[in-house]
Amino acid sequence: MFTAFLKRLPGQILGRNPFHGDCLPSRVPIFGLLSGRPTLPFPHPWNYQQPIRILETYFWGTDSEAGSGRHNRYLDFPGFAPVLVTRDPAVIRAILTETGDQPGQFDRDTLPSTGIARATGKDTLLFSNGPRWRKQRKSAASPFGKTSLFQPELFHGFAETFRTSVRLRLEALRQHLQSTHESSLRIAVEPEIKALMLEMLVQCFFGADVPYDQLRNIHVPALERVIDQIVRDTVTNRLGLPVSMLARFSSRYAQMRADFSTFESLTNQVLAARHTGRGLWQKFKSEVSDDALKSNIKVFLAGALEATTSYATWAISHLARHPAAQERVFQEVGTVQDYSPDELENATFLEHVLNETLRLTPSLYFLPRRATTDTWIQMADGRRMFIPQGTHLLLDVWHANRHDDHWGPGVSGFPATEFVPERWEHLAQSGRASKEMLHFGFGHGARVCPGKHLGQLEVGLVVGAFVKLFRFRAVHPENPVKAGVSTKPLDGTLVELELREPGPA
Ligand code: HEM
Repeated sequence: MFTAFLKRLPGQILGRNPFHGDCLPSRVPIFGLLSGRPTLPFPHPWNYQQPIRILETYFWGTDSEAGSGRHNRYLDFPGFAPVLVTRDPAVIRAILTETGDQPGQFDRDTLPSTGIARATGKDTLLFSNGPRWRKQRKSAASPFGKTSLFQPELFHGFAETFRTSVRLRLEALRQHLQSTHESSLRIAVEPEIKALMLEMLVQCFFGADVPYDQLRNIHVPALERVIDQIVRDTVTNRLGLPVSMLARFSSRYAQMRADFSTFESLTNQVLAARHTGRGLWQKFKSEVSDDALKSNIKVFLAGALEATTSYATWAISHLARHPAAQERVFQEVGTVQDYSPDELENATFLEHVLNETLRLTPSLYFLPRRATTDTWIQMADGRRMFIPQGTHLLLDVWHANRHDDHWGPGVSGFPATEFVPERWEHLAQSGRASKEMLHFGFGHGARVCPGKHLGQLEVGLVVGAFVKLFRFRAVHPENPVKAGVSTKPLDGTLVELELREPGPA
């Protein structure tokens, strides 16, 4: 590491571009006081809650550039490793393809997830690299696979748990409407979705018997505060002090300590189900002790809750602003009585809605990588880029998916920044294979999301049933983002709901 530092320092002092090749990133000035750009191009205690603005800063003014600097930018501060931020899908794809455990391949950069590691432990599928990662990935593969999840009994288990909870919610809603004599209700949907997602994960997937009310009222709020803490901790706790130590000095950390212990107790309940063989534990082929698994279970619980809630709330939020699309989904799901894999797969417009949701508002808005050695990458169009060892790579999926150069009318038939599910029909008709148009919503390459099928299943059920039960419209016309570990609608998915038919979910 020290050799790499010495090697790059002279060039940094002279202001030389450390990248080479015919796909050359252009430099971002560290300070740009008069440029009007949104913020500084790195996180600090005053801007860390607006990470998408930090990424936006990298591309400030580059739309007037013609070369590869239009979508590829770098920051190079003497003494530090360079940072490359790319919103170029071809570069993103090449880097994701070249990520893995082979010598010379890119690693996942652990720098943006130091707070996660302090909360869950380091030995996880998310935080580890190289052979340790490969070993964990192999043991986790089978329970998450499509063939396991789409077994009819398991599928019905998900649908049944979901229906029971929704029925109870629905009854409460109906009573509320009756008692207030109103026809509609204004509600922030996010907390309801979160509780449902946690219930499906804990009860169906992990087979643990934790009552819904406990999940809704104790575990979801504690997990929310743990996740907020993870984001704050990554930026502000540079010394890496543990919460248990900080708890002695501040009441906020004392609350934090209680939340971490609630998280620990949920993890223990989930691990206890391992010995009953319930849920998908039977598919989990590993001899490792419960203690060794604990960190990964925490990552699954917190990560899956964040990602599935993000995905489902964005989909509902978009549909709440697009009544015609909402009606089209209703035409598909309105008559579905039995949630089976076939029924879900036949709902093609719902699938387009979900695809468009992940494209326009990806749950994970950037993917972090690190160059383990000096590396040349080659894009599918033949361009090449040299990336020096140690470079931090931020693959800016959020802005890549919103640029007209990649997803605009000339490419996908519609403006890139608009929510248009029909875009996917247009792409299919024009013969542009889905393999060609990647939105990276679940990542790509060896480190693609292992929970993809589980996530799609849960989100498909929740969004489909929501449309079937309610007609809903957004309270605010605009749909801005809040971003932390994942992205979500800023308004908490605030909608006016009315019951469609008083039938079963
Ligand atoms: C449905 C919503 C979900 C979305 C949008 C999503 C998205 C993603 C993305 C984009 C990545 C790749 C990150 C990277 O390349 O750096 C990822 C990785 C990961 N996801 Fe998901 N995810 C979802 C659900 C889940 C679920 C339900 C689980 C587990 C129960 C899960 C567990 C993981 C893990 C452990 C990784 C790291 C994999 C590795 O590095 O090998 N995800 N997810």
